[in-house]
Amino acid sequence: MKLIVGNFPRTRLRRLRRTALLRDWVAESRLQVTDFIAPIFIKATPGPKQPIHSMPGCYQINLNDLEAEVQSLIALGIKAVLLFGIPAHKDESGSDSFESDGIIQQAVREIKRISQDVLVITDACFCEYTTHGHCGWIAEEAGVPDVSNDKTLELLAKQAIAQAKAGADVIAPSGMIDGMVGAIRKALDESGYYYIPILSYAVKYASAFYGPFREAACGAPAFGDRKSYQMDPANGEEALREAYLDLKEGSDMLMVKPAIGYLDVIYRLVQTFPGVPVLAYQVSGEFAMLKAAAQAGWLDEQRVVLEHLIAMKRAGARNIITYYAKEVAKWLGE
Ligand code: PBG
Repeated sequence: MKLIVGNFPRTRLRRLRRTALLRDWVAESRLQVTDFIAPIFIKATPGPKQPIHSMPGCYQINLNDLEAEVQSLIALGIKAVLLFGIPAHKDESGSDSFESDGIIQQAVREIKRISQDVLVITDACFCEYTTHGHCGWIAEEAGVPDVSNDKTLELLAKQAIAQAKAGADVIAPSGMIDGMVGAIRKALDESGYYYIPILSYAVKYASAFYGPFREAACGAPAFGDRKSYQMDPANGEEALREAYLDLKEGSDMLMVKPAIGYLDVIYRLVQTFPGVPVLAYQVSGEFAMLKAAAQAGWLDEQRVVLEHLIAMKRAGARNIITYYAKEVAKWLGE
């Protein structure tokens, strides 16, 4: 690409920045309410909405609260939700996640009953459903307990089918298990769900910015960490391998997570795989960080949030998963 050069004083870049009208007219990226995906935490236990203390304004809600939540999202113009379940009982295999009356399956059916106007994306993983809080089946590997890759694939296939049967529109595996996309694609196809797209958390880093989410979804690992399956933040080239393999296995879309520290990765994926939708996930810690500074009066919340989100669009993100979805929809509507 040739740079468009020019000489001062004939060329003055400030001409197109002089008024808000001009700036808006030439903007290269825009935020639209349809860009956003709102996460929902659904708990199986009854009782009032449970505030998540490290994510001010976010709640664990139960099935009875879903109608009000979904209607408020629709009223704001938000067209997609990402579901996380908090089951009443956890076990070693995370069986609630693949039972037909598991919390996620119930939630999907309930949302589909409430409205046909919202895309239901289900997180396919085990950390919220297992007693050990890891993203798969645990076995001794080389003498130490670790997520057993291939056994987890069998369970993931069951989970994906249960979610599809319940009516999920898109399945989003988030465990960073090798072969997860292929295993889910095969299981869906063999069960007649060839039409359900997979949104792979293809590039998910082992990030400390997931801290608040672990409180939100009650999914902190009981021992160790997730570094044997999630990516090392030092690596960018490896992200291309992850994305390439997931596309080969049949992923329809790719996600990068967290977002703001990994804009280079979003950009590289978009450049390397033209036409493949790449999504950004502004994770719980990114949300908490902005909220805390705003609550302390140190940053202008609306401006910093919109700046982070437009940076993700500029890097090439097609859609954005964010706990700010509702607030941003309100700001954009003003
Ligand atoms: C489940 C999952 C996690 C997040 C999304 N799906 C937690 C983790 O990997 O530890 C994090 C989301 C966030 O921090 O907002 N595997």
